Amino acid sequence: MTETRDWADASSGVGSVVAPTRMHLFTAIKTLAYHTGLHRTLFYRYNYMFRPRDLALLVTLLTETNGLQGPIFEIGCAAGHTTVFLNKHLDDLGDERPYVCLDTFAGFTQADIDVEVERGHRAAQFQYVFRSNRKEWFDQTMKNNHISRVKSIRADVNTFDFSPYRDISFCLVDVDLTRPVARALEEIYPRMAPGGVIVVDDCTPDQKYEGAGVAYLAFVERVGAPVDIRYDTLGVVRIPADTDQP
Ligand SMILES: C[S@@+](CC[C@H](N)C(=O)[O-])C[C@H]1O[C@@H](n2cnc3c(N)ncnc32)[C@H](O)[C@@H]1O
Repeated sequence: MTETRDWADASSGVGSVVAPTRMHLFTAIKTLAYHTGLHRTLFYRYNYMFRPRDLALLVTLLTETNGLQGPIFEIGCAAGHTTVFLNKHLDDLGDERPYVCLDTFAGFTQADIDVEVERGHRAAQFQYVFRSNRKEWFDQTMKNNHISRVKSIRADVNTFDFSPYRDISFCLVDVDLTRPVARALEEIYPRMAPGGVIVVDDCTPDQKYEGAGVAYLAFVERVGAPVDIRYDTLGVVRIPADTDQP
């Protein structure tokens, strides 16, 4: 773990050291925000799609793969909040693995929504979700957080060519619906490193994104891996350390 870095000062937030004029300006803006309702936008809010215990588990599993050399994938990265969080952890570990993020940056594809409609969901549940993200905004967010190991790719996971990648050490599959989760697992699993870990979000039955869990369960059954769903939502697939090929 890194010992010397001042994490409060390294942020641009509450604990950062700024010149006195800037400090007075920030204070004036925040005072205005407090009195006008702008505080809803400007004041800190918890802004993760994961609960604290889910984030804690992601940190634990990512740490377990520290020492492997192959890339980390986040399939479905949205605005990059979890990407920043996990990359700050990698910085703390001194872990330099490449981190690849894949997203349409335009929400769900029509073909993926069509499958959910066939499965009994309403299209309207998915049509306007995650559409106000942009690859360039995501990249700027990485820069703002001084993160340079992340490569973002705008792509549909259903058609993305994974063949250049091998020995993947960790993969977070967070694309919510049946079809893209199934495709991500089929493509990622044979390219995993021994000792690698895949985590699939939304493996919770009876909710809007239950298709993710259906795809996870079908996949582990097909490959003969154990069902391992943590906190009723995170589906884990571990690649044994003593295997040649998953
Ligand atoms: C739940 S969000 C990801 C959240 C992110 N991992 C985080 O923790 O902040 C799901 C993302 O999957 C993306 N997505 C959905 N279908 C996709 C597909 N077929 N290919 C690539 N990305 C997709 C959406 O655009 C959306 O940004």
